[in-house]
Amino acid sequence: MNLPNLEEARKRTLKKSLIVKNNYDFKKIVKDQKYFLKTYGCQMNEHDSEEIRKYLEILGYSKTTILEEADIVVLNTCAIRENAHDKVFGYLGRCKHLKKEKPDLIIALGGCMSQEESVTQEILNKHPYIDIVFGTHNINDLPKLIIDSKNKRQIEVLSIEGNVYEDILYSRDSNITAWVNIMYGCDKFCTYCIVPYTRGKQRSRNLSKIVEEVKDLKKEGYKEVTLLGQNVNAYGVDLNDGTNFKMLLENVAKTGIERIRFVTSHPWDFTSEVIDVIAKYDNIMPYIHLPLQSGSDRILRLMGRRYTKEEYLRLFKEIKEKIKGVSITTDIIVGFPNETIEDFNNTLDIVNTCKFDGAFTFIYSPREGTPASKIKDNISKVEKEKRLYELNDLVNKYSLENNKKLEQKQVKVLILGISEKDNNKMYGYTETMKLVNVKLNKELIGHIIDVKITCAKSFSLDGEII
Ligand code: 5AD
Ligand code: SF4
Repeated sequence: MNLPNLEEARKRTLKKSLIVKNNYDFKKIVKDQKYFLKTYGCQMNEHDSEEIRKYLEILGYSKTTILEEADIVVLNTCAIRENAHDKVFGYLGRCKHLKKEKPDLIIALGGCMSQEESVTQEILNKHPYIDIVFGTHNINDLPKLIIDSKNKRQIEVLSIEGNVYEDILYSRDSNITAWVNIMYGCDKFCTYCIVPYTRGKQRSRNLSKIVEEVKDLKKEGYKEVTLLGQNVNAYGVDLNDGTNFKMLLENVAKTGIERIRFVTSHPWDFTSEVIDVIAKYDNIMPYIHLPLQSGSDRILRLMGRRYTKEEYLRLFKEIKEKIKGVSITTDIIVGFPNETIEDFNNTLDIVNTCKFDGAFTFIYSPREGTPASKIKDNISKVEKEKRLYELNDLVNKYSLENNKKLEQKQVKVLILGISEKDNNKMYGYTETMKLVNVKLNKELIGHIIDVKITCAKSFSLDGEII
């Protein structure tokens, strides 16, 4: 087999990122063949997979959820923590085994892991059964790579960000709620985080193109959009023409789409003007995911988060005061290098103050190439786990407490579908992003209905349709 070298595989693009129209100049190449697509990680990856799926479908592949049935397997990977990495290499083992039985099987690896030079190197050296590697900046090369992979292994990753594409077509997961990407990359460079390296510098999409996309989704019958970015509050800053997130939110609200959400917010860029816009428009949902990461000023400084505990609390308070009934969730990392018990107790303190509606909690894991990975990872695994459990207990206590306040109350729920756990129930979300289960009535899927909450648990609510 003809193997490219690392330099060939990792193309650098030194040109300034341009905003260009996506190219769909390719046709059906297969008949009666199936794709299996597996997505790891965040909502951004889920949304990228909707683009990948569109390309696979245009080429003629149809979906299977059974790995063994696939003619092409695409893994859209995540690099944020070490366990994400391990999971992907574990799964590749299964794919390798399948390829022994089905030599024509195409195996493709995309997403954040592909952007890591060490991963490309490892694939070149140790995983010859992987036919295609593509990165986060050249997803739209996938059709060409699939076509060319018939003759030669295709490993092509842009090591510096490429163009910003507009008019991308997606094969969306849902016909009720839709992700809308508003920006690529991140300029915050939190010291533990690999995202600025795997997704590149911040590039915002054009405001009117985003608004057009939302208007089209509304016309197609979508009820909810979630504006996506690594740091949505910094939207527009790179455009240097005064465009900002407040303007975008206001314009999206004016489209009249029923529900608008956005993730993720960085406290440093969160302005009072944005809070005012959320409070002003009924169709901007009263739910904010506001990552804290740590409650210790010393650790926040080491993390390069650019705010103190007091500043976070001031913002939290302003949001709570101005947005009626708002729910706030967060992300917290435990066991950052040199985190003392006192630092950790400061995190518990702020959780006790904020009483978050929910929190995603993580054990710190060093990511190669990040500044924090150069500091000795000196907290033992046992200690990190102990802190995680203690934090989770506290977080769950407040989730339950907050949810209990909803018992016997009436809430508006957008019904999304039939519950996977119980086929006699449907699930949906409140305006404040709480998961609700109600009795089956398929006609209500895609509708916003009034529900009385009958029983609250830590992670979901049971309700009766009114
Ligand atoms: N280790 C542990 N958690 C991390 N996160 C990001 N990088 C790391 C890391 N190296 C967490 C942060 C972020 C969330 C998406 O993942 O809390 O907000
Ligand atoms: Fe990573 Fe920080 Fe950017 Fe979030 S804001 S993606 S944690 S660098």
